[in-house]
Amino acid sequence: TRYETILTETKNRVGLITLNRPKALNALNLRLMGEVTAAAADFDRDPEIGCLVITGSERAFAAGADIKEMQPNDYMDVYLSDWFAAWDRLGQIRKPTVAAVSGYALGGGCELAMLCDIVLAADTAVFGQPEIKLGVIPGIGGSQRLTRAVGKAKAMEMCLTGRTMDAEEAERAGLVSRVVPAADLLGEALAVAETVAGMSTPIAMMAKESVNRAFETTLAEGVRFERRLFHATFATADQKEGMAAFTEKRAATFVNR
Ligand code: HXC
Repeated sequence: TRYETILTETKNRVGLITLNRPKALNALNLRLMGEVTAAAADFDRDPEIGCLVITGSERAFAAGADIKEMQPNDYMDVYLSDWFAAWDRLGQIRKPTVAAVSGYALGGGCELAMLCDIVLAADTAVFGQPEIKLGVIPGIGGSQRLTRAVGKAKAMEMCLTGRTMDAEEAERAGLVSRVVPAADLLGEALAVAETVAGMSTPIAMMAKESVNRAFETTLAEGVRFERRLFHATFATADQKEGMAAFTEKRAATFVNR
């Protein structure tokens, strides 16, 4: 393939991206950022794909941005190249995304997980924003998304002390949707993704867009936004099919239109 730092495969309408820099615990260098965002954009455009999964290795989802790559840069280097801004493209993916996190999800690794829509954790997962120990702060949205996910108390403590959370605490705090045994992680993530991919893809995209609006606006505006999209679902073939299948007591066959 054309990728050096990731592996990609597709199965049952799911596009899987596996971070693959094992010697660096999947540290997120610029090459990997370009490859993940390009692969995700390809899956997003592919009508045969309904959901994406991003995973790492058993030992590390990703141990952060690549410190060795960042180290030689000065302010003008990172400012002029808008270092890390390309990760925002992952947040623009319209199809649902699932992060399957095993082992370290530190710094940019935690931020990458939080850029995904559903986060599943292995019982071995460790989440943290230890940037402060390096004399920097989170740079891929960590201070914002972690605070929205777990609240100010834990986000402040994590960003100010670098303390990590284990999978149990991350679930209790609302950072992950579920914790599963490490050996089952990828299987569970693919099962969740296949479930999503088996729904109408445009309707799943609308559901994702509507939930995400909750992070961007007031409740009244968000409810209005949802109502408009809910009405719009009635313009789809899949709404006709979904409701017909229910009344006819059969499984729905969605056409993703
Ligand atoms: C570059 C990294 C790396 C990273 C690990 N490695 N994390 N390389 N960037 N973020 C490399 C190590 O240098 C080492 O390579 C190899 O991976 C294995 O790591 P070890 O440290 O030997 O493993 P271990 O002792 O098991 O410790 C694991 C670890 C530790 C606790 C995860 O590696 C660690 O603390 N990593 C850094 C975590 C971190 O600070 N992340 C935040 C990054 S900043 P060699 O070649 O030496 O064997 C960030 C913020 C972005 O993400 C925004 C700020 C601008």
